[in-house]
Amino acid sequence: METWCKVRGWLRSPTASKAMVIAGIIGFAPAAALLPASQTYPDPTGTLGQDNTGGALLTSSNPFFQPLGTNGRSCASCHIPSNGFGLSISSIQSIFNATNGTDPLFNKKDGTACPSMPITTLAQRKNSSALLLNQGLIRIPHTLQISASLLQFQITAISDPYGCNTSTNNGLTAWGPGVTPAGVLSVYRRPLPATNLLFNSSILADNAAASLAVQASNATLGHENASVAPTTDQVNAMVSFESGNFTAQLNDNSAGALNASGATGGPDPISGLPFFVGINDPLKQNPTGAAFNTHVFNIFDAWTDTTNTSLTPSQRSIGRGQTIFNTRTFNITGVSGLNTNSVHAPKSQAPVIVGTCGTCHDTPNVGTHSTNEMMNEGTNDVAPVGGLNVSALPIFTLQCVAGPLTGQTYQTRDPGAATLDGFCRDVGKTKVLGLRGLASRPPFFHNGSAPDMATMVNFYNVRFNIGLSQQDQTDLINFLNAL
Ligand code: HEC
Ligand code: HEC
Repeated sequence: METWCKVRGWLRSPTASKAMVIAGIIGFAPAAALLPASQTYPDPTGTLGQDNTGGALLTSSNPFFQPLGTNGRSCASCHIPSNGFGLSISSIQSIFNATNGTDPLFNKKDGTACPSMPITTLAQRKNSSALLLNQGLIRIPHTLQISASLLQFQITAISDPYGCNTSTNNGLTAWGPGVTPAGVLSVYRRPLPATNLLFNSSILADNAAASLAVQASNATLGHENASVAPTTDQVNAMVSFESGNFTAQLNDNSAGALNASGATGGPDPISGLPFFVGINDPLKQNPTGAAFNTHVFNIFDAWTDTTNTSLTPSQRSIGRGQTIFNTRTFNITGVSGLNTNSVHAPKSQAPVIVGTCGTCHDTPNVGTHSTNEMMNEGTNDVAPVGGLNVSALPIFTLQCVAGPLTGQTYQTRDPGAATLDGFCRDVGKTKVLGLRGLASRPPFFHNGSAPDMATMVNFYNVRFNIGLSQQDQTDLINFLNAL
């Protein structure tokens, strides 16, 4: 008799093929699986919930789940359902171990630090994909396309452990003091979750894509190495799936159902949340003129009720974590895009802004930034505070030679939005990331520099001198894991 077991929410037989084992790891079977309208997946702190508001779909007929290019990858190779449509280190390592590093995920185009690195032996594949295996990072090659009259900086020095940015074949063709930079600049970034996308005021870490359609087409040509762009029907099908895809933590191992006792966790409420650019912005960019509401998350309001004796200690801890997120103030200083160099509201800028976590993560119950203001809170620094791990990433030295910041020199691990627009004010800026479904997809930050939630919270505690006690940190971690 055939016994079926549930692996990460998907049915598979004990005699499953290697492809099916991987499908189990990544949370879907590429061949002919049905992605139900509502689905759950176990993750390290409980259960992730996912809703397709478009209804159940056959992955075999949706281009998001189908390889459209030449390297065997689909969108779901890097945007894994059970990983909140991102990519966790544990999945990457399982897939590597199950295939000795030959799965399309590790394709040398961008699954290695540089296409020129050797991948013949297992040891070579481990070495060339170390950034992916250890920090979840994919190579993002940006061809510099800024006209010389707009470009404000020169790239005067590069320290690249992989020699990719400095190589003739894959890197910059022109750089150095007095030289207008040209060619391909590679940075290393983690797949951002392809879910809850209706709450994005910008797409990609550096706002590189103008729409989900442009992004889907570029990802097919780039990550999937397609020789022709996807058809309009294929793009529409991908965008339609992404736009109806909502993901959040639904159950917590300690606190139980996250939509119990008056709480409103899980993916169901997300699809109904309102959003427009500027919906809740501390720099007063709300087009309706509404004041900034610091109560950014209200999911666990019922669990903050200290008079309710039926709440469990775990529920109370999550409630306290939400209160810390919404109300604990600290001095925000030195953030390019907020304290200085804002694109949107120079009049509201100040060297010290007394704010909260929600000053930047301001979109109600989602935590993206409601305008497309990019920021650099220090995660792209050469040596960030608080134990973030960036030591394996390249360092770029940028010298400003035009514009209001002429004379400034910046050192950064990722030039961010400046790579696209050439402005010195945008050096090192990337977007504020959304906060739902976090538990399913460590590492954190766009450069995978925080391997876990504790490191991430410690970074903030040190960076902004918040003074979180051990208990505060535990509460904040429990809250973030419950999102
Ligand atoms: C090889 C891995 C890989 C594949 C395959 C891939 N992506 Fe991505 N995706 C990434 C990375 C890495 C980023 C972040 C890049 C950045 O921020 O510059 C990303 C970002 C995104 C984002 C932006 C999310 C946000 O919040 O801004 C969307 C949407 C997305 N991908 C959709 C897709 C679609 C659709 C496909 C298939 C056509 C696809 N991806 C294929 C790695 C991948
Ligand atoms: C000054 C603006 C700002 C403040 C204040 C701020 N954040 Fe962030 N947050 C960001 C930016 C920008 C990123 C993306 C950084 C990156 O990718 O390198 C981010 C990323 C994150 C992430 C990672 C999400 C992911 O998918 O990797 C978490 C979690 C997070 N912040 C939680 C918090 C918490 C908790 C607080 C309060 C203690 C806080 N943030 C305060 C700007 C801010």
